[in-house]
Amino acid sequence: MYSMNSSSENRVKKTLALILNKYNCGVLLSPLYTCVKELLINAIKANYKNIYFEDFAPNGTDGDGLNYHTALRLFKLEMSREDAKNLERLARRREISADVFFYVDSDILTVTVINPTPMTEKELDKIRQKLIDAESCNDISDYFLIHADDPENEGAGIGLILTAMILRSLGVDLSTLTITYDRAVTRAKLAVPLTSTTIENYEKNTQSA
Ligand SMILES: Nc1ncnc2c1ncn2[C@@H]1O[C@H](COP(=O)(O)OP(=O)(O)OP(=O)(O)O)[C@@H](O)[C@H]1O
Ligand SMILES: [Mg+2]
Repeated sequence: MYSMNSSSENRVKKTLALILNKYNCGVLLSPLYTCVKELLINAIKANYKNIYFEDFAPNGTDGDGLNYHTALRLFKLEMSREDAKNLERLARRREISADVFFYVDSDILTVTVINPTPMTEKELDKIRQKLIDAESCNDISDYFLIHADDPENEGAGIGLILTAMILRSLGVDLSTLTITYDRAVTRAKLAVPLTSTTIENYEKNTQSA
């Protein structure tokens, strides 16, 4: 998909609901859909960012220095304007899309979100650190206490943390949430057992919240 709009959202939600219902895990739709949506929005944003940097800020934007920061700020402005329609159009024309795949094997649901723009090593480092931080935080406010505003975040910078916390509340080991890249694509992956234990964890944790 080239953007998150109500029709792409519904499509993803319906597919996920079908799978979950088949495994009697319908109650997990809301937490899992939130995770998938966060990963998809990241992938779409990464695609847009790539187009934006290639088209509008080609020089000296190697991930360091003032130019990069200026370009990143302009990118954020562009993103906030009217749903970034312009970038969506360019992504569609060039077929730079973000895709989600669901796969169930031995009761384990694996979700893979792929976008065709490899990350930089620096971005991956940031993500690794985030996932480490997410393990040591009990809730999102803990995270805000540790981190003052980071100017390099494209958004509030909490999407992955939120995803990690949701997975933790389902009793899922965070080592199954991975973001990797090779020369061609970036891949975000998570794995959740579709079992009564996962449901019990979820119900226990949402009740006490
Ligand atoms: N698919 C991806 N491709 C490239 N970079 C990614 C991808 N997913 C995440 N990232 C990088 O990881 C960073 C952290 O993602 P996260 O979702 O936590 O924050 P955010 O998207 O910046 O803000 P928010 O989710 O609060 O709007 C992003 O800013 C981006 O640099
Ligand atoms: Mg995000």
